[in-house]
Amino acid sequence: MTVNSPVSLTEIPHNNLYRKGDVFVLFGELFGRGYVTGLLDQAKKAGMEIIGITVGRRDEANRLRALTPEELAEAEANLGGRIINVPAMAGFDLDAPAGEPTPTDLLAPLTLETWETAKLDWAQIERCRAVGVERFKGAVAEIMRELDGMIADGKNVHFAHTMAGGIPKAKVFLVIANRIYKGRGARHMSSQVLLDSDMGKLILQNFDEVSANSFRHLIEGSAAIRARIEKSGGQVRYSAYGYHGTGILIGDDYRWQTYTNYTQGYAKMKLEAIAEEAFAAGIKATVFNCPEIRTNSSDVFAGIELPLLPLLKALKKENGGARAERIWQECESLLSEGHSIDDVLKAIADFQVSDVMKPFYDFNNWPMPNSQGQSDITIETSNAIAQMHKDGKALISDRLSALVVEATGALIFGEVANPSGPVLWLNHDVVAKQINAAR
Ligand SMILES: NC(=O)c1ccc[n+]([C@@H]2O[C@H](COP(=O)([O-])OP(=O)(O)OC[C@H]3O[C@@H](n4cnc5c(N)ncnc54)[C@H](O)[C@@H]3O)[C@@H](O)[C@H]2O)c1
Repeated sequence: MTVNSPVSLTEIPHNNLYRKGDVFVLFGELFGRGYVTGLLDQAKKAGMEIIGITVGRRDEANRLRALTPEELAEAEANLGGRIINVPAMAGFDLDAPAGEPTPTDLLAPLTLETWETAKLDWAQIERCRAVGVERFKGAVAEIMRELDGMIADGKNVHFAHTMAGGIPKAKVFLVIANRIYKGRGARHMSSQVLLDSDMGKLILQNFDEVSANSFRHLIEGSAAIRARIEKSGGQVRYSAYGYHGTGILIGDDYRWQTYTNYTQGYAKMKLEAIAEEAFAAGIKATVFNCPEIRTNSSDVFAGIELPLLPLLKALKKENGGARAERIWQECESLLSEGHSIDDVLKAIADFQVSDVMKPFYDFNNWPMPNSQGQSDITIETSNAIAQMHKDGKALISDRLSALVVEATGALIFGEVANPSGPVLWLNHDVVAKQINAAR
């Protein structure tokens, strides 16, 4: 491996650190079917105590508030643990010094005609960023004060970072995002045009705060707890979810590929750098770069499921036994009369090797902007495969996403005991091995 290629987990690791009574802290709020549910299940199975946080809610005036008693009870029931009720929303899209406009206010007057050339007040944005960062760091400090009293000496602690996001609620951007991620033909929009605009630059800054810098604030904010735990014989670990493409089967070989356009990629590389810096300082923090799956957050990306579906092939290749066979049958039963998994895989194989996709297999150039041809073929292949199903709401990609969530949970839980590095890719080979190994 060179530094310019992904460092991958290749064997199934086994947790030999966490035991009953240790503490699992979820840094991010749990919503439905997301990645962290797999890791949380492992922590619960090991008998760990679960503590969560909330991103808070906004009142009519957009002020961030804690959860009401009813919301808190519901969130705690959903999590299966206690929640520290201090709103920890990252990003600064709705922050500003008192009486001044927020970044979302600055974006409000922009229209489809003006956004590309509109100039933003960067001094104002910087003031808002400073307010947002101070607010978030303050929330983390308050959370850590409460948490400190909840963790006894000698316990092992796992902090699981799951935060990603930061799309501001500006009308014009919602239209643009729809066109960048879902537009084909005449509705296609170049992701590069967005990045070249002031609005795009603002959004990238907000992504950095939510998806990357929040991990730094977690690591720094928990320094006192870490020191106390380590002094008393316990250990502290940090994990975060990254995305930086995935090795999947293309033909008969595993090969790195990526979903395009992943605008958040710059923030994900910052997240990796934060883990690298912490690791070098002796803090066991690892970013796990995970496969493309469908979640509440990723449904905005049309075609995100295309790299997921060849996992079916990997299941067979990695000593697929009875479980792999069952998964194939379950998936095939979701297709309508006259369609088979082979048809699905054929559509993806054609997509993978098409000329228009060739420039995108370039790890060192990631994240690349989209192109008209690439958006068109991605969305068309995605639609064609969706149409092979009996029911648009029961897709093979739903089933496979759930399996990947479960498998990555086990892999991450196993690896964090003694993490081999700060940034690790979980590719389809090891994910398939884990799925086949689980009953
Ligand atoms: N879905 C994928 O294909 C995929 C692939 C690789 C990595 N990931 C990563 O996995 C992690 C979990 O994402 P997911 O896809 O499971 O979706 P998800 O919607 O379940 O999780 C997103 C998380 O981000 C938090 N969040 C969103 N905006 C926030 C803000 N402004 N401040 C603080 N927290 C905020 C939410 O509370 C939630 O916990 C993310 O880091 C994501 O980038 C996802």
